Amino acid sequence: MRIVVTRRIPEEGLALLRRIGTVEVYTHDKIIPRAELLKRIHGANAALTLLTEKVDAEFFEAAGSSLKIVANYAVGFDNIDIREANKHGVVITNTPGVLTEAVAEHTLALMFAVARRVVESDAFMRTGQYTHWLPLGFLGQSLWGKTLGIIGLGRIGTWVAEAAHRGLNMQILYHDSGRSDELEMKLNAEYHELDVLLRKSDIVTLHVPLTDETQHLIGERELSKMKPTAILINTARGPVVDEQALYHSLHERKIFGAGLDVFEHEPKLYHGLEKLPNVVLTPHIASATNEARQAMAEIAARNIIEVLAGRPPLNPIKSES
Ligand code: GLV
Ligand code: GLV
Repeated sequence: MRIVVTRRIPEEGLALLRRIGTVEVYTHDKIIPRAELLKRIHGANAALTLLTEKVDAEFFEAAGSSLKIVANYAVGFDNIDIREANKHGVVITNTPGVLTEAVAEHTLALMFAVARRVVESDAFMRTGQYTHWLPLGFLGQSLWGKTLGIIGLGRIGTWVAEAAHRGLNMQILYHDSGRSDELEMKLNAEYHELDVLLRKSDIVTLHVPLTDETQHLIGERELSKMKPTAILINTARGPVVDEQALYHSLHERKIFGAGLDVFEHEPKLYHGLEKLPNVVLTPHIASATNEARQAMAEIAARNIIEVLAGRPPLNPIKSES
């Protein structure tokens, strides 16, 4: 069996794969060039891809009929054309579950960082500006007892809801395509239409996948509904937010701040975003804990092992949703 891995991932996953075949890892510390990817995938039986690889018709054609599975090293799979995969009879899998806590924790980290202006004040220290205690300096927002609006109540959104409610006594509002009776009972969570959620929330956090429906879900109109003291957090996918509209909203201080782990035109930022003091930026690291990345590597490998042995995958992506 020939297995193509498009970047170095934790050894635990690679070791599992080496037991069943030849593992070809792209070892350079950059995104695999397209031509190189298409060359390597030709004749392969399985591929382990990152969210930076476009897995589309051209990819499947380059691969040929030997390709049985593409295991995406991510929970999100907007980089993969599921319809084309179905057409070519290739199984697609993702890594749900194992990164839920990591992403939820990073969401909270961004909430705290923005609310308490952690990054801004760190820069203040490093540049030697701290000369006396500041009774009115770096005033932020308290999180205790505030209202948290969660858009997308999947595993990650639910985890954030539980942590925020139990740890910070937050009132939980949510918006999703479905209702969760369980969360409404357990946490007293309230379902609201998007506009109502935006209007009522002190913090708004996004946990939806990127689809045609969620692209620019948060744009100028939506930002204008938010409180001037509100904070927006995005650890989902960049294009869910209109980054230009967000830039203007932050620049004009129409909202208090934002914490972003993902960007509309990743790895690029909307021009000037990096200059704003009221935004905290991290390079798509929400799942970057040793625990989560190791588990993601193992789960992606196990999906490949199952499918190449003729068994059903553990985490199949069924169809375009
Ligand atoms: C990371 O962004 C993922 O989808 O796992
Ligand atoms: C992803 O794991 C989600 O369901 O939120």
